[in-house]
Formats: sequence, structure tokens, C-alpha cells
Amino acid sequence: MANVKFIVQPGGTVKGRIRVPGDKSISHRSIMLGAIAEGVTTVTGFLEGADALATLQAFKDMGVQIEGPDNGNVTIHGVGLRGLKKPQKPMDMGNSGTSTRLLAGILAGQDFDCELIGDASLSKRPMKRVTDPLALMGAKIETAEGGTLPMKIYGTGGALKAIDYTLPMASAQVKSCVLLAGLYADGQTCALEPAPTRDHTERMLNGFGYKVTTNKLDASRTQACLQGGGMLSGRHIDVPSDISSAAFFMVAAAVSPGSDLVVEHVGMNPTRTGVVDILKLMGADITLENFHEVGGEPVADVHIKYAPLKGIDIPEELVPLAIDEFPVLFVAAAHAQGTTVLTGAEELRVKESDRIQVMADALQAVGIDAQPTADGMVIRGGQQCPQKAPILSHHDHRISMAMTVAGLNAVDQVVIDDCANVNTSFPIFLELINQVGMQVEAVKEE
Ligand code: S3P
Repeated sequence: MANVKFIVQPGGTVKGRIRVPGDKSISHRSIMLGAIAEGVTTVTGFLEGADALATLQAFKDMGVQIEGPDNGNVTIHGVGLRGLKKPQKPMDMGNSGTSTRLLAGILAGQDFDCELIGDASLSKRPMKRVTDPLALMGAKIETAEGGTLPMKIYGTGGALKAIDYTLPMASAQVKSCVLLAGLYADGQTCALEPAPTRDHTERMLNGFGYKVTTNKLDASRTQACLQGGGMLSGRHIDVPSDISSAAFFMVAAAVSPGSDLVVEHVGMNPTRTGVVDILKLMGADITLENFHEVGGEPVADVHIKYAPLKGIDIPEELVPLAIDEFPVLFVAAAHAQGTTVLTGAEELRVKESDRIQVMADALQAVGIDAQPTADGMVIRGGQQCPQKAPILSHHDHRISMAMTVAGLNAVDQVVIDDCANVNTSFPIFLELINQVGMQVEAVKEE
């Protein structure tokens, strides 16, 4: 595949009114739940990025008739909980951890054998976190040594045992995997999380008429439970814009003097809004306008104007609520006056790349004092990125986009290698970032 380099001209002011593509987490779930529902599900605002398309293709491989995506519209002819068919070949999850971990839960309850494979980055990521609870439920799964892909899942004919599982880490993917397997189990399955994580699975199951109950045990711990053996009913899903994609633009406007930007129709699920809270603590001028609800998910227009930022100690309880936004929050911290300290974020080390090490390397390469720690980072900000050095994305879309935004505060060009991966979550990133006022060029090298 050709290498795509981003060449980012330094500086710029960010202005306008934009809409970023659909939420990745909700897009994945719309296909999964639509496929195992009875009847037709229609989706608007579906994210046509490689990750969500990997999920869509997997269900096609399992015999589900799906029309689209066409301009964000998808129609899924649900086959019911028991209607999936054995795929003819291993299903390719590409770069997508969400596809792999959530699908594993559904596949554990089928009566056929299948295999999941992925790209180089996904093939290094930990899967034991889902195969452990699935094994407790009686699933038969083999992975490569070290608990990584490829993953072979053997049919159990839906005879899974319900479990009451306490998650060892705050992970919506693990919680969702357990709940989806619970659809195929004999009784009540519960997943207890140590801190609140995104709850799109619970909300969407309820929207499909499948009851999920949630019990808040204390300020941090919530338990989600469902009974196996029910039925989902097809419905319409309107996917809001992805707050994780909007985050690049929020930070871009927050750090460049004179900026004034509105990002419309952004999903504001309270389990996802850590980025807004963290930027506000840093002094950002953000207002949420036109709040309303779309298909069970809160949505708002995000209005951001430039304001000077200051370094902060990021509250640990906000970490799972902003887990995908740290690459670009590190860029905000590099710009902020003073020191920003992140702790309690060891999960960042097992994302599409080791986002602590890779972002520390990238910021140091452009001359920022960024020191990685075991579970976070210390960034002494408040100056422009003084150096020009090639940046490596390490196959990680969010590194490519975060370091593009760093160009706003650079004194020289920022050149980022290996940026085709932006397509996994945000295929029109380049178009929109140029539209709002940056100058970024993609150069293909064969
Ligand atoms: C996701 C959950 C998060 C997030 C990922 C999408 C989801 O992972 O990083 O991009 O859709 O459930 P973890 O739950 O493993 O933290």
C-alpha cells in the first residue's frame, strides 16, 4: 500500500461551522444489533470508515443482507439471535479492536466455528480481556500465544452459562462483549465496571426492546445486567457525529488565536464527554448549544473559541470518559502554560499504538518537553513546537490527526508519516481540517 504523508504548514486560525462523521462506537453497534434483531433496521449517519466497514462486512460474511452504506444510510435485514450463518473464510477485523472484542461475544454463542484475523497493529492487542470472561461462560476460544489474534471461536450452540463478572479494567469493549454473550446465556448475565465507561451497548439494546438494567453501586461502580434468550426488534438509528472526531477540531480552535468554530450535532453521551470537561478545566472557551436527543443519545452543537489554556492535573475519574481523546489532549497540554499531568491512564498503552510512548516521542520530536510515565504523561507546555522532525504515526489514526493539529502551534512544517490510517475513523479529516483554515497536504509515496 502507498504511504500517505501529511505535510502540515505551521500556524493558522480555525473558523467555520462543520459536521464531522458519525460516531464509530454507535456505528459498530448499529450493525451488530441490527443483524441479530428480528426485522429491518435502518441507519442514518453511519460512519463509512474502515473500522465500522469491517463490522459490516463480517455480518455480510455471516449471511446477513445489508444494503449500503450509501451516504451514511444502511439497511440491515436482521436474522434474529439464531440466524447467523458460518462464514466461508476467516473474518478480517482490519485495525478494529471494537469489531473484534464485541463480535467475540456474539460469536461465542453461535453453533458454528469461525476465525477472526486483523492487521499488524490489531494482531498485537490483548484479547485475553475478552476470552477470559467468555471462557467462564463456557465458550471455546483459541488465540495465538500471548492471547492475541488470530482468534478461533468454536460453536457452542448457544449454550453459554450466565455470569456475574467484575471487569478488571474500565473497558466498554469488555463490558459489551460480556453483555452480548449474555444474550445467548441461560439466565442473568451481569458486568460490573470499576469506573463508568461508554454505555452505547446498554442504551442501544434498550432501544431495540431488549431490557438492560443498570445498578449504580457507588459513585464509580455500575453494574449492567440482562437476561439471556430474549429478542431484539429492528428499528431506526440516527448516528450522531463522533465526539472523538470532533475533539481534534475542539483542540484546534482552542489553541489557535482568533479561532471561532462550531461543530454540529455532536454526540454528548455523558460517558464520552471527558474531553469537554478536561478542556474546560484547562480554560477553554466551549459552549454546548442546541441540546437535544437523537434515538436515545444526547446531541449538541459544540462552539469553541480561542482562549489561553493552562496546564492541569487531569482528574483520574475523567480518564475513561476521554480515553480516545488523549493524543489530541496532549497537544492541547503542549500548548497550555504550565505543567499538565496525566495519571491512571495505563489503558492508553494498549490502544491502536502505545499512545503514551508514541505521543511522547512525537511531541519530543517537535521539541516539546513530554515525559512518559507508566500510566500517563507529564507535559511542560506553553511554547510553540520549535523543531522540525519526521513524525511516525505507528499505524494509529489518532496519532496522525493529533500531530496534524500540533501544526497550528509549530514554527516549521510538521511532516507525519503513515497517515492512510486516518480512514479507519475519519475519512474526510483532511478535507475538513483544510476547510476550517489549516493547510495540510497528503502526499502519496509508492
Ligand atoms: C470503544 C471502547 C473503548 C475505545 C474504543 C471504542 C467501544 O475501548 O477506546 O475506541 O466502542 O466500546 P475500551 O473500552 O477497551 O477502553
